[in-house]
Amino acid sequence: MSRREAGLSTRAIHGPPRPRRNRDPVAFPIFQSSTFINPIGSAGEVLYTRYGNNPNQVELARRLSALEGAEAAIFLASGMGATALAHLALLNPGDHLVSSQWIYGGTRQLFDREFGRFGIDVTYVNPDRRRDWKKRLRKTTRAVFVETPTNPLMRVLDLEPLARLCHDRGIALVVDSTFASPINYRPLEHGADVVIHSATKYLNGHSDIIGGAVAGTESVIEEIRQLLQVWGPALDPHAAWLIDRGMKTLAVRMQRHNTNGMQFAKWAEGHPSITTVHYPGLTAHPDHTVAAATLDGFGGMVGIQLAGGAQAAERMLRRLRIAQHAPSLGGVETLVSEPRLTSHASLTPEQRQAQGIPDGFVRVSLGIEDVEDITADFERALRGTT
Ligand SMILES: Cc1ncc(COP(=O)(O)O)c(C=O)c1O
Repeated sequence: MSRREAGLSTRAIHGPPRPRRNRDPVAFPIFQSSTFINPIGSAGEVLYTRYGNNPNQVELARRLSALEGAEAAIFLASGMGATALAHLALLNPGDHLVSSQWIYGGTRQLFDREFGRFGIDVTYVNPDRRRDWKKRLRKTTRAVFVETPTNPLMRVLDLEPLARLCHDRGIALVVDSTFASPINYRPLEHGADVVIHSATKYLNGHSDIIGGAVAGTESVIEEIRQLLQVWGPALDPHAAWLIDRGMKTLAVRMQRHNTNGMQFAKWAEGHPSITTVHYPGLTAHPDHTVAAATLDGFGGMVGIQLAGGAQAAERMLRRLRIAQHAPSLGGVETLVSEPRLTSHASLTPEQRQAQGIPDGFVRVSLGIEDVEDITADFERALRGTT
């Protein structure tokens, strides 16, 4: 009988099968310890929580590698820590990075403010201009970075042509897959080399920790391990344990985020105070075809544009009773934020308008509440805003 591969929900809960012993705890315990007794005279691996080899950190890595189909993975103290160390593992002074323009504002700041100090040049590409990827490559290009689905327009990129372009030239394709989670999309299956997550979001799912993760080949992850030892953004064991607990329900949470996202987007499409809805599950979305062909779910993130602009948005936000105004996403509770004041605050109103993010744009991270309660919350909050 051929062995069938475990499903994603099973992988999220158990990771690869391992031996069980009588009296083992069912829930992986917290090793809330900075250090571990080291065999005297041993030159073997030293266990130390900053090294990323605390058992709680290792347990998470096992499960994420199984979910992403990666050789290895590593967890760090934040999504930004994961993005920073993944790039430092791939790039040296004199190297060139090509990045999508459609990326999280914090990542953009990391590239613009910090990478120059390490002699790493960054060039941005508008993914709508597909030919520009090739045009922007240099002899020194060592990595291409993209985010998909993107924030806040939920654009979905087709990785396969980009992966071919990179692989022909020995360039690493790095993908921030935070918005999808491995339940909706696994970039390595589409040719990516390295996957990054802000574990703060869907992987943990409860808005109570900050964490990050990278998955890829053993050699890239080993390089990140070495960097972690000296740069130090290690994940605390208690936060690791909470992510462990969160990941057990990742697959069912994502199913609910997907259905709530779709239902909310359809409701928003028919609302007179909302002029545009950005959700890849809607046929009107510019990437609907790519999204339908490559994603296993359209996700729980929706962008809505209010007819009444910034004033209407502020009024609505003040009147919401269930959805909370907080700048994060991927938790069980619905969160809303305005890109003009958070992720895209550094741009002028004209620049935001040109990018398709005018004032009055609200980003909604659908939680797993009863979606009828969320739409009713918005319905009530929007009354009289047109
Ligand atoms: C797509 C994406 N990547 C990375 C990050 C950074 O993650 P963290 O806040 O865990 O450092 C964020 C945070 O909002 C994000 O939205």
